[in-house]
Amino acid sequence: MWEEKGLTNTPGGVSPERVLTTTKNKPITIEDDKLPPSSKLGSPGGDILHKKGNIGNTALLRSYVVGHPEDERKKMDGFPSPSSQDIVEKMLKKFKQITKRPYPACVIFTIWGTDNIHTYGKTMAQIFELLGVKYTVEEDELELVPLEHLRRPRIDCVVACSGAFRDLFINQMTLLDRAIKMVAEAKEAPEMNLVRKHSFQLTQELNMSMREAASRVFSNAAGSYGANIAAWIKSNEWEGEIQLQRQYLARKCYVFNSDKPAVMEYKSDLFRATLRNCELTVQGIDCDELLSITDVPHFYDADPTKLIQSLRFDNERPVCLLVKTTRKHGEDVLTISESIRLDAMSKILSPNYYEDILSHNDEGVRTISNCMRNILGWSVTSGEVDTMIFEIAYGIYMDDNVMQKRIREKDETSFRHLLATFLRAGEMRYWDATRDKLEKLRALKKFTETLQ
Ligand code: BEZ
Ligand code: MG
Repeated sequence: MWEEKGLTNTPGGVSPERVLTTTKNKPITIEDDKLPPSSKLGSPGGDILHKKGNIGNTALLRSYVVGHPEDERKKMDGFPSPSSQDIVEKMLKKFKQITKRPYPACVIFTIWGTDNIHTYGKTMAQIFELLGVKYTVEEDELELVPLEHLRRPRIDCVVACSGAFRDLFINQMTLLDRAIKMVAEAKEAPEMNLVRKHSFQLTQELNMSMREAASRVFSNAAGSYGANIAAWIKSNEWEGEIQLQRQYLARKCYVFNSDKPAVMEYKSDLFRATLRNCELTVQGIDCDELLSITDVPHFYDADPTKLIQSLRFDNERPVCLLVKTTRKHGEDVLTISESIRLDAMSKILSPNYYEDILSHNDEGVRTISNCMRNILGWSVTSGEVDTMIFEIAYGIYMDDNVMQKRIREKDETSFRHLLATFLRAGEMRYWDATRDKLEKLRALKKFTETLQ
């Protein structure tokens, strides 16, 4: 039945004409991968590695076999583990609550180097659980969990690796790639093996071999890090979401293939086509190390939620989940919108928090300004931020004249950045601000400029 659909790559299938006429299908060019003019960021040494095309850490390439020092091995349960089974159950339950569908056809995981170290590969274990693949550390063996034990289809997974993960964990990228290709090659009914189903569709659409079409492990080019979205948001020189989404595609579309390891190959068509199948995005955060996803920019920088929405033919936004891990309480699964609401309520919207950091911390205004900018970043990439968060924060930091003067006098530069974030959020309608509020912010901007 799936052969008949020909050039299709969504679970429901679409007509080939649609593929050719969508404006979003324009080829990605080098112009899509540039830094904001004001940015001084770059990837040290990246240009050399990039030209060679090699994966960053060449020393690791020599140890091709999966392995860990003995004491580290003991801490790994093998994949999947009992806890990854629980967490995947929670993910699927949440997905079902939101979409009323039993499971997603494809899930994209952003996978971090630090998270992989701290959690001993828990995100990888979740991917193996969805694929229905078992990995035993002692024997270094991959095997399929029989479908009658899995009792659901094998779910397709795309793995978007951070640059640090790519540099440090080529063995784990190899393991993930081998597992996904093994699933694609299992002779099972396509409706019970969504990796196989999508891979076959990709062979038709992109005219490639089954093993190539079953490549799902992506990252930046060698020597390059991140999607640059955060650099543009920080500079405030970005034009719109499409520009940022093309940036993500241009930078994160380098595929790892264990059949020809050592080189990250530019495969933007394959990346785009696999993203189109995604109905769920997942990131993990180790909450023993970092309190929240609004503290730092790299989580939204790596978030593909609205990009996927713009690529999908049905224009549906994927469900966007966060797996929070703490040593004490284990894992919890939240939607990004729940997580941002909780973070904001316990931090920048909480008098206990902002009074404390403004009274005892020289960097208090900068912390608030960075946090607001990260919240705006999440609005741009995920569309999951409630406009009320901007509204309440505006009331606290801008509309209250006493507070406004206090933070402006404490740290004028950070105040100006905070003001710019509110203006951007209001002007681009991430915050449903009234005209009066925007006028007040513009007047305030003029006033602060006269002080410079
Ligand atoms: C990582 O763990 O992969 C990572 C952490 C911070 C920034 C970028 C990457
Ligand atoms: Mg990175």
